[in-house]
Amino acid sequence: MAASHTPAQKVVKILHKNENQFQDAQTSRLTPPDTPTSVLDGPLDADQPSTPCQTKDAPRSNSRSSRTLEFSYDLEVAKDGNSGRLLEFGRGVWSVVYKATTRWMSDVSVLTPPPSPVASGRILAVKVPLRHDAGPVLAAEAQVLSRVAATASADEYIVPFYGFITASSSIVMSAIPLALSTHIEECALRAKENFSTRTMLDPVMSMPCWITLAGQLIKGLDWLHAEAGVVHGDIKPHNILLRRRRIDGDGNSAEFQFEALYADFSSAHGISLEESSHLGEVALSALTPPFAAPELMTVAAMKAPGLSTPASDVFSLALTLLAAATGDLLLYPGTSSMQRLAMSREGYRVLDFVRSGHHGTRVPRRGLVERTIAPAVVKTPSERVKTSRWLDILSSA
Ligand SMILES: Nc1ncnc2c1ncn2[C@@H]1O[C@H](COP(=O)(O)OP(=O)(O)OP(=O)(O)O)[C@@H](O)[C@H]1O
Ligand SMILES: [Mg+2]
Repeated sequence: MAASHTPAQKVVKILHKNENQFQDAQTSRLTPPDTPTSVLDGPLDADQPSTPCQTKDAPRSNSRSSRTLEFSYDLEVAKDGNSGRLLEFGRGVWSVVYKATTRWMSDVSVLTPPPSPVASGRILAVKVPLRHDAGPVLAAEAQVLSRVAATASADEYIVPFYGFITASSSIVMSAIPLALSTHIEECALRAKENFSTRTMLDPVMSMPCWITLAGQLIKGLDWLHAEAGVVHGDIKPHNILLRRRRIDGDGNSAEFQFEALYADFSSAHGISLEESSHLGEVALSALTPPFAAPELMTVAAMKAPGLSTPASDVFSLALTLLAAATGDLLLYPGTSSMQRLAMSREGYRVLDFVRSGHHGTRVPRRGLVERTIAPAVVKTPSERVKTSRWLDILSSA
């Protein structure tokens, strides 16, 4: 899958680095697989990757601890048969995500149970640092993922995580090659091609699909905050992946065909500040206008960076759902990126801004989209809707 449209330049803020956080990683051994292991065993330069080679057995994490789950199985990055280039699923500011194959058996019995179920197939995704300073970011992400993946029901809400390869600072996950951003763009294109006055007031993905998507993501965010105790910190359509649902029989083609899963925990951290420093995972924080909450984008906040919060996650999810309704990943109307950036600094006025643009018809006054988005974008973070109450609003449809 090609990397989908990038919304805006990401602003990276350095908060705190604890590069020794993995030195005390607990070592408890996995039962080794039958075949010798070969993994990405050294730094993998995204442009000139090294060949996978032998590795040793690796530590694995305790559930719900700050330890990192290590991936120590056979893994090879897939190549294009003709050009020999590595096959990419996508890339972001920090990383490139490659398609990889594994000879790792899906026989659960040979493993000490991992926090998430073993991959049913052998195709995986491996997220590899793209820049020199990205190694600690991916290490911190793996530490958060180890904890989140060990929380009950994780596979309903986040992309399944299989471990970290310390030697190359790479994260191994299930391959889920469809980002919500791509799906929104496809729906917007289809809506434009089949324009009809009958559907012009509905979300580009249809109202039933939008309601299902919103329900999945709000429930997932509630779980992330309340059960996993983690703030995502960079919710946007590019960081949500869609896994095709198994639908029995013929299914109803009007239904939403996917499960939306949170991905990219490179800006995530434990909810309480105390926990964050304990986990040592707040290596860096990044913001992506236009989805970032306005309180994180003030000049003062940029100079003295604060942490994202559950309320700023709620704001970012609201804007993600708004993009899924209008079909516009840039969200704000305006001809220049500076104009749009200025509007996103006043993001609590987003509904007014969007209504003044081309896609405003898709957010009718007092309609369900407006009723869902409005309480989640209020200016004062503490007055924004909480995820549990947010679900009630959506189900009052
Ligand atoms: N498990 C996966 N399966 C398939 N594709 C994936 C997977 N994880 C990520 N991708 C693709 O790779 C892209 C980059 O991944 P990710 O967002 O995790 O990287 P990043 O460098 O942290 O990005 P960002 O710029 O948002 O910080 C995603 O937008 C998505 O298209
Ligand atoms: Mg991303």
